[in-house]
Amino acid sequence: MKTKFLFLAIACVFTGIIFHSCNTQPAKITVDISRSPFEKLSDYHFFVGTLNELKPNDRLIPYDLITPLFTDYAFKARFVYVPEGKSAPYDTSQVLQLPVGSCLVKNFYYPEDFNKPEGKRRIMETRLLVHREKGWDNLDYIWNDEQTEALLDNTGGIKKVAWTHYDGAKREIDYLIPNKNQCKSCHWRNDASFSPIGPKIRNLNRDYAYADGTENQITHWIKAGILSNAPTGEHPKIANWADSAHYSTDQRARAYLEMNCGHCHNPKGPAYTSGLLLNIDNTNLENLGICKSPVAAGKATGGRLVDIAPRDNEASILVYRMESDDPGIRMPEIGRSILHVEGVALIRQWINEMKYPACATR
Ligand code: HEC
Ligand code: HEC
Repeated sequence: MKTKFLFLAIACVFTGIIFHSCNTQPAKITVDISRSPFEKLSDYHFFVGTLNELKPNDRLIPYDLITPLFTDYAFKARFVYVPEGKSAPYDTSQVLQLPVGSCLVKNFYYPEDFNKPEGKRRIMETRLLVHREKGWDNLDYIWNDEQTEALLDNTGGIKKVAWTHYDGAKREIDYLIPNKNQCKSCHWRNDASFSPIGPKIRNLNRDYAYADGTENQITHWIKAGILSNAPTGEHPKIANWADSAHYSTDQRARAYLEMNCGHCHNPKGPAYTSGLLLNIDNTNLENLGICKSPVAAGKATGGRLVDIAPRDNEASILVYRMESDDPGIRMPEIGRSILHVEGVALIRQWINEMKYPACATR
């Protein structure tokens, strides 16, 4: 009797070990909104295999935007997670309303060589937006130098990063990591408090090369069940700011301003009081900056009188502020420390080609 029991016990332990070691299924993604955030990025199980390869786990869907935000030339790898059985209703009027329990994941990295973006890279930070019962929580995980883990850090900071630019030149910058409060400067909306910015139908309406083939992102989200009530047919689409073969200068400039300025310069955004509305839906020319006097004079105007003077870049405050590195002048006011050469060139071209009459005030 005793030996039989002992045998059973050994057999149980043994099968337990076997079962455990055979069970190589990756752990499921854990976004537990009832507990405080994990200290380590790996604890969420967003990625399988080696963490810094950012290979998405089940239910984590990678996505790209047609026109993104410029952040000191950083590359970005974005992902969305929506809990099983839940979805965001199709809505073209605003950012998609992802359900409670969802998480948006945005990784910032620099390839060593920009002309070999798939090659060796340095990941700087992984920003998360987690949809809790009370609203969106913003978290930042900063990667260690070994690139093996990223740890929760609310204080932000500066890290040096170097790369070889598109033109073959070596570049090095002080990369700025925002603190928890600074996320608000861009993600805050007067009516909805903290909000995601990017996932809008018109900005998602493009192809993505998924692991199992290329597909339109809207189609993919519908098939994955995370987007519901979508109508059939065409979906709206924003211009690709960098694609001059398919879009006019005006379309590209408006898309660029929407994504780089519109999250603050819109009727519900933190720059509303400036009266300058750079969101793509704005049709009022004065609010767009055409012949508009700034709300405050002072050094931030560079002595110029209007935000946009048609066909006159050198008289336009908009260009002056986009070209400035001075924290008290530059636009966007945070999120960049170096100039976006190509972005400024586009806005200059846009102003140059404007058909509006010259401003009377000058
Ligand atoms: C300078 C403005 C700015 C700051 C500061 C900022 N963000 Fe964002 N963020 C954006 C914009 C614009 C987008 C959408 C465009 C894009 O992803 O290129 C975005 C996108 C995101 C996304 C992807 C989902 C979405 O909303 O589109 C996450 C996650 C995110 N931000 C988290 C954070 C966190 C966390 C912080 C603070 C540590 C932060 N952001 C600071 C402007 C900002
Ligand atoms: C993080 C929020 C934020 C972003 C992003 C941002 N701005 Fe601003 N902007 C402000 C605030 C706040 C003011 C009002 C205070 C001031 O003039 O500095 C302002 C004022 C301005 C003004 C003066 C407007 C007036 O009539 O008084 C211009 C021009 C301007 N921004 C251009 C831009 C451009 C162009 C971009 C994008 C490339 C941009 N801003 C992005 C916050 C932002």
